[in-house]
Amino acid sequence: MNRELALEFVRVTEAAAIACGHLVGRGDKNGADGLAVDAMRAAFDSVNIAGTVVIGEGEMDEAPMLYIGEEVGAGGPRVDIAVDPVEGTNLVAKGQNGAIAVMAIAPRGCLLHAPDMYMDKIAVGPRAKGCINIDDPIEENLKRVAKALDREISDMTVVILDRPRHKDKIDAIRKAGARISLITDGDVNPIVECCIEGSGVHMYVGSGGAPEGVLGAVAVKCLGGDMQGRLLPDGPEQIERCHKMGIADVDKVLTLDDLVKGDDCIFTATAITNCNMLNGLRYFGGGVRTHTIVARYKTGTVRFVDAIHSIDKKVHPIKI
Ligand code: FBP
Repeated sequence: MNRELALEFVRVTEAAAIACGHLVGRGDKNGADGLAVDAMRAAFDSVNIAGTVVIGEGEMDEAPMLYIGEEVGAGGPRVDIAVDPVEGTNLVAKGQNGAIAVMAIAPRGCLLHAPDMYMDKIAVGPRAKGCINIDDPIEENLKRVAKALDREISDMTVVILDRPRHKDKIDAIRKAGARISLITDGDVNPIVECCIEGSGVHMYVGSGGAPEGVLGAVAVKCLGGDMQGRLLPDGPEQIERCHKMGIADVDKVLTLDDLVKGDDCIFTATAITNCNMLNGLRYFGGGVRTHTIVARYKTGTVRFVDAIHSIDKKVHPIKI
């Protein structure tokens, strides 16, 4: 993929974030999602790709736009696209930290076509690459990762969704002595954060959406970290769904390379609300400031794009 595309993709997630930004804290998660979807869909029209949405807003009959299989872009290289115009709709509705507009792109056939079901996940940053095994007890993973990070388990922070289904994992992490950050929603952002030193996040574990797992995996790949996943189909219908989407062995441990194949992927996320490494949208009279991460696997370049958007088309004084 042409490197200029990276900036085009930044524009796409910026557009989604800006479109829903005024609904932060307004209690309208569907309204926010709708605005972000419309803006993201429109932004694709001027991007020179022949994109197919492989992870999107749902099936064709349930989502009017950015549905799975939709073709987007103005023509160009054939790519798979994974999008989540608002990752953390509840966070936006409640004005809580951690909501992002996010997308991932790879050449056609390189992203796992993840069905809409749960996936068990474990992710760490570059220094702990090769130290995780989703089948091992959590305390063994913690021991190996702590050693790789040259710190005590008690100096590590593990992020996990605050859900009753995670009770045993949370108990085991506490027993092992690690610090925990329980999040209410939005597991792509902490997966990104565990790959960035200084974010204060050292490991992500637990089950969340499988589509979000693929989005997170592209970030992890671009940022040099490690991740494993396992689909958690709930009953024969979901198993059948996996088969239809080309996943023959549903119990297989999915490595980073199973989640995103090849050596040419790009990840971009714009913060809607504050995250540890990204500032949420900041409005000023006539405009808005956005903060985006864009990472490209092929070159290892990671950019943080701090942008001022003039909505009234006037030049505004810039504050550092
Ligand atoms: P939405 O943005 O679609 O609301 O999803 C947010 C999310 O928290 C994901 O980040 C996470 O993977 C999934 O939902 C967890 O699902 P559940 O709320 O069922 O535990």
